[in-house]
Amino acid sequence: MRIDVITIFPEYLTPLDLSLIGKARREGLVDLHVHDLRQWTHDRHRTVDDTPLGGGAGMVMKPAPWAAAFSGVREAGHAVLGADVEPLIVFPNPAGEPFAQSTAQEWSQCEWLVFACGRYEGIDERVYQHLADIGCEVALASLGDYVLNGGEVAVLAFTEAVVRLVPGVVGNAESLVEESHSEGLLEYPLYTRPASWTDPAGVVREAPPILLSGDHAKVAAWRQEQSVARTRERRPDLLTQTDGDVAGA
Ligand code: ADE
Repeated sequence: MRIDVITIFPEYLTPLDLSLIGKARREGLVDLHVHDLRQWTHDRHRTVDDTPLGGGAGMVMKPAPWAAAFSGVREAGHAVLGADVEPLIVFPNPAGEPFAQSTAQEWSQCEWLVFACGRYEGIDERVYQHLADIGCEVALASLGDYVLNGGEVAVLAFTEAVVRLVPGVVGNAESLVEESHSEGLLEYPLYTRPASWTDPAGVVREAPPILLSGDHAKVAAWRQEQSVARTRERRPDLLTQTDGDVAGA
């Protein structure tokens, strides 16, 4: 998978060198490029923003650097992936579709993602019109119902959620099946040794005996029940989203 990120703060994306994502990059499972939008400006001040036409607060990102950036990034990607491959261009935006595990699953199937991090009040609307005119697939995605200063933090989250689903990135693929949200439910409670643990207040806390029974079918049934109960308690909205196809929901 190829991922390009366009931002005015490339340093914001340095955590993508770390941990699982950094390892995936080094192993060639993800080809990730971070670009400074200002490289596509031509004035002395490397200007990317201007005041809003019609007045109002804040600044708006100018269309020309963005159009040049998409052109440059598409050309670079085409040189590697072939001219017939087009990216999905994602604009992180609080007014976009809420990003969910299903979005991560969908995007993890893409050959090429381009994340375009807006700042200030937003990007000149004609950039979206231009991309639509040249036939680019565009998505607006929100990290949640709150406003960040820009798209970078959202892109860190999107990238981590997507890249860990790329085959080979997470060593134990089974853990992807059982984790929260993978099947529309929250994950069941987890325990490890010791089976009997005395907490700092002197209370002896036992792990559920069923987990020590060695009966895999019973353990699986218990975990499923726990997942449903936990989801009903903490995130009842998820149960109504699964169209009633969850056992015991
Ligand atoms: N940019 C600013 N706020 C955002 C949010 N909540 N999600 C995605 N991008 C954003």
